[in-house]
Amino acid sequence: MKPKIYVTRRLPQPALDRIQEVFEMAINPDDRVLTKAEIVANVRGQDALLCLLTDTIDAEIMDAEKNLRVLSNYAVGYNNVDVEAATARKLPVTNTPGVLTETSADLAFTLILSVARRVAEADKFTRDGKFHGWGPMMLLGHDVYGKTLGIVGLGRIGLATARRARGFGMNLLYASRTPKPEAEAELGASRVELDDLLTASDFVSVHVPLSDETTHVIGAREIGLMKPTAFLINTARGPIVDEAALVVALRAGDIAGAGLDVYESEPALEPGLVELENTVLLPHVASATIETRTKMAMLAAENAIAVIEGRTPAHLVNPEALDRA
Ligand code: DGY
Repeated sequence: MKPKIYVTRRLPQPALDRIQEVFEMAINPDDRVLTKAEIVANVRGQDALLCLLTDTIDAEIMDAEKNLRVLSNYAVGYNNVDVEAATARKLPVTNTPGVLTETSADLAFTLILSVARRVAEADKFTRDGKFHGWGPMMLLGHDVYGKTLGIVGLGRIGLATARRARGFGMNLLYASRTPKPEAEAELGASRVELDDLLTASDFVSVHVPLSDETTHVIGAREIGLMKPTAFLINTARGPIVDEAALVVALRAGDIAGAGLDVYESEPALEPGLVELENTVLLPHVASATIETRTKMAMLAAENAIAVIEGRTPAHLVNPEALDRA
């Protein structure tokens, strides 16, 4: 008899095929986020749960099936899973880092270029029939080339974004808990305190994982340190930025604009955000390419399979859960 897995949302087919080589698979038939009650009901009788960043996986869900052996999260971020509760239950939690690094950095850089060159606004202008000919003062933006990019959190995606910036002749600052001498040598990046980064940067791009420590790490005070000509980019997690404070600052012209892929209470947006022309607002699509989503799904499948087959998965968030001691 095959072990059983529940998959909370449809994923790229190659991964579902791979899952079914090993598991008896049940899957959410609808293209929507399941309620907690539905996840609780569906996890019963399963050996594995493959979940998404939109599923909040807490102790109640873990306790709904005492024989659950792995929680495979289809995302690099795992703030949606109560990892402490999982570890206490010796339940391994896995994630999908690495495969989405370049794709996510592409999107962070897309937002940098889009806010600076008013791409969304210019597109709308053209579609609205307002383009009546080239104009010397029409839709003037800001240069990206030669400007200073401040990266908050120089992990994999932050580093990949910094590499793109180097190609645009940008100066690089970074704020990080630990120094990154390789990045400094490779990219000429300088490590500075967060306040100094905010004060000096023309573009601030956020790349820290979400935790209690990083919630609202960019708040009203921090936004207040930014130049009035600077732009804020967030492709990490919404709650890292105080979205209400951001709307106030954008409205007042305290900063020049923002490019957001993630939101504090997504899919809800902070009131006032959509009316602001100096923003580019994307629906959490940083990793959304066919190639990358397929790789993420394959990795999530392989992580679950490894645990079920008694191997250590490639990406284990809580190694303590597998400690035999
Ligand atoms: C992740 O994997 O954490 C990303 O946000 C998915 O796009």
